[in-house]
Amino acid sequence: MSNEVNKIAGAILGMATLAMGVGFFSGALVSPKAMTQPGYALPDATAAGGGAAVAAKEEAVEPIAKRLASADVAKGETAAKKCVSCHSFTPDKKNGTGPALHGVAGRDKGAVAGFKYSSAMTGKGGKWDDEALDAFIANPKAYVSGTSMGFAGVARGDERANIIAYIKSLK
Ligand code: HEC
Repeated sequence: MSNEVNKIAGAILGMATLAMGVGFFSGALVSPKAMTQPGYALPDATAAGGGAAVAAKEEAVEPIAKRLASADVAKGETAAKKCVSCHSFTPDKKNGTGPALHGVAGRDKGAVAGFKYSSAMTGKGGKWDDEALDAFIANPKAYVSGTSMGFAGVARGDERANIIAYIKSLK
């Protein structure tokens, strides 16, 4: 009789140990850290009908004019490090993978001499005013569908404002 009890107790103990072990190891394998940003470039959300969700999220952000009023040029310069692998910000207007961005604010879209833009960009029309820059940097492929700018975008509205303030501060 006590032998039976021992067996049952042993079985329960064994199962509990196993459950704990599985929990421990799966915890070690799958890091439960929450991701703040997607770890990969998101596909074009407009095609999948996700555009509405993006637009809804954008509406919660203050208008760019308001964000620019409290923007930080130095922070913008740091944030613009995300762009320098493709863009120059210097007055010599050297093109790289992307067109030179010195003086881009207020300029016609797709207007840097000697840069081969996508037809999507040259066909977009209009100038790079604050709203256009904000929208493009937030989600390049949503703003200029078919753009050759291979960059996922800057999700945070204040960070975009800092970058735009930095671009506008360039002399
Ligand atoms: C992986 C390379 C790459 C990165 C990173 C990148 N861009 Fe671009 N960008 C491009 C290319 C390529 C184009 C031209 C797009 C086209 O012709 O469709 C472009 C175009 C632009 C334009 C339009 C310029 C014009 O003359 O019309 C702006 C504005 C711009 N990028 C801003 C930015 C900013 C700001 C960042 C950083 C937050 C950034 N880009 C990051 C490659 C890049």
